[in-house]
Amino acid sequence: MLHPRTLALALAAVFALATGHGRGETPQAADAKKDPPPLPNEAQVMQVKLKRSQALLEALAKEDFKSIEESAASLVRISKATEFLRAYKTEEYEFQARVFQRSAETLVEKAKAKNLDGATLAYLDMTVSCVACHTHFRGRKRD
Ligand code: HEC
Repeated sequence: MLHPRTLALALAAVFALATGHGRGETPQAADAKKDPPPLPNEAQVMQVKLKRSQALLEALAKEDFKSIEESAASLVRISKATEFLRAYKTEEYEFQARVFQRSAETLVEKAKAKNLDGATLAYLDMTVSCVACHTHFRGRKRD
């Protein structure tokens, strides 16, 4: 198990990379950050997921396997790094999170194999998991 602080830093780094935040910071701003950076919340993580899945659609349409692989690999990393953020751990939530992660992994594999049909199917699986998890989540109060 990773130390929570290490995990927090790693996650913040993934998030900064994915969003492009943290670039062009002044040295003073960097110095001021002695405390671990705040964790991105679920809504912020989802914005990154949205950007990546939009980029995936574009890459699929252009048959750009390198971009498909990059975006899918980023989604796998985000999914793994944010596992502990899931405060609302219902069985259905866990299930959809696993479907999401597995389809992102399949996307990486299909892109590597330059299999456009396979990649498109994995993208559809992933999109279904986005919608299914949201539907489940909305039907339920956060208790
Ligand atoms: C395993 C569950 C799960 C999966 C899979 C999932 N989401 Fe979400 N998503 C959530 C939850 C929970 C919220 C509500 C977060 C909040 O408002 O705190 C959310 C909220 C969002 C939001 C709104 C964020 C905001 O600004 O309020 C967007 C956009 C979003 N998700 C996009 C996606 C996309 C795109 C995918 C698939 C590529 C995806 N999500 C997959 C659980 C999931």
